[in-house]
Amino acid sequence: MKVGILGSGDVGKMLAAGFLKHGHSVMVGTRTPYKLAEWIKKNPQATIGGSGDTTKFAEVIILAVKGVAARDALIAAGVSNLAGKIVIDTCNPIAEAPPVNGVLKYFTDINESLMERLQREFSGARFVKAFNSVGAASMVNPQFKGGSPTMFICGNDDAAKKTVTGFLGQFGWETADMGKAEAARAIEPLCMLWCIPGFTRNEWSHAFKLLT
Ligand SMILES: NC(=O)c1ccc[n+]([C@@H]2O[C@H](COP(=O)([O-])OP(=O)(O)OC[C@H]3O[C@@H](n4cnc5c(N)ncnc54)[C@H](OP(=O)(O)O)[C@@H]3O)[C@@H](O)[C@H]2O)c1
Repeated sequence: MKVGILGSGDVGKMLAAGFLKHGHSVMVGTRTPYKLAEWIKKNPQATIGGSGDTTKFAEVIILAVKGVAARDALIAAGVSNLAGKIVIDTCNPIAEAPPVNGVLKYFTDINESLMERLQREFSGARFVKAFNSVGAASMVNPQFKGGSPTMFICGNDDAAKKTVTGFLGQFGWETADMGKAEAARAIEPLCMLWCIPGFTRNEWSHAFKLLT
């Protein structure tokens, strides 16, 4: 598929390389293309553009920008360009404040997630929360002693979630579909939980697994 990545941080670069590895066409949309000079040498099949061009090109969009900038990034991408597109939302609503005893602060509260806000405002897009509850280094075909990890996803569009589940299978993940957009209230804070061993013990190599 044609995959457009909005954002050129660790997540954008890692997922762009992952989609290339699995045979998809990838365009990265960024305001700062010079930051990708080294990355593009290693990933010459990708193209780089502005966020509007990337969103027009894409069948599936990966939103991988700072949570505080997610709304602005989608506006810059062009509301009409988003219509009907799957948007895989990797963003966490991390506030501009330091963690307390290893616990991140969020600018949302427990009864309203970032993805619900985005789904409400950009109602023509089909948002699926995914990839937000693990570090970028473990997103693409990670190897854990405990086997395949679980990615928790949610969103209002079943067909979009089916497509994302297919991508997650290619990337070595089991998928646990937690339901509609409101489930992002529970999935976004998994990032807080995931980061605690990192901030307190410098342990960053783990992922969640749902046992039944
Ligand atoms: N890092 C991880 O391991 C990890 C894991 C899971 C989820 N996440 C989440 O994934 C998202 C991306 O994380 P990251 O670590 O890759 O990068 P980040 O440092 O959180 O964000 C970097 C990106 O944000 C974009 N950005 C910042 N301000 C912007 C604005 N005003 N308008 C448009 N774009 C703006 C930049 O876009 P340009 O390219 O245009 O400069 C840049 O590429 C975040 O929401 C994060 O919480 C991160």
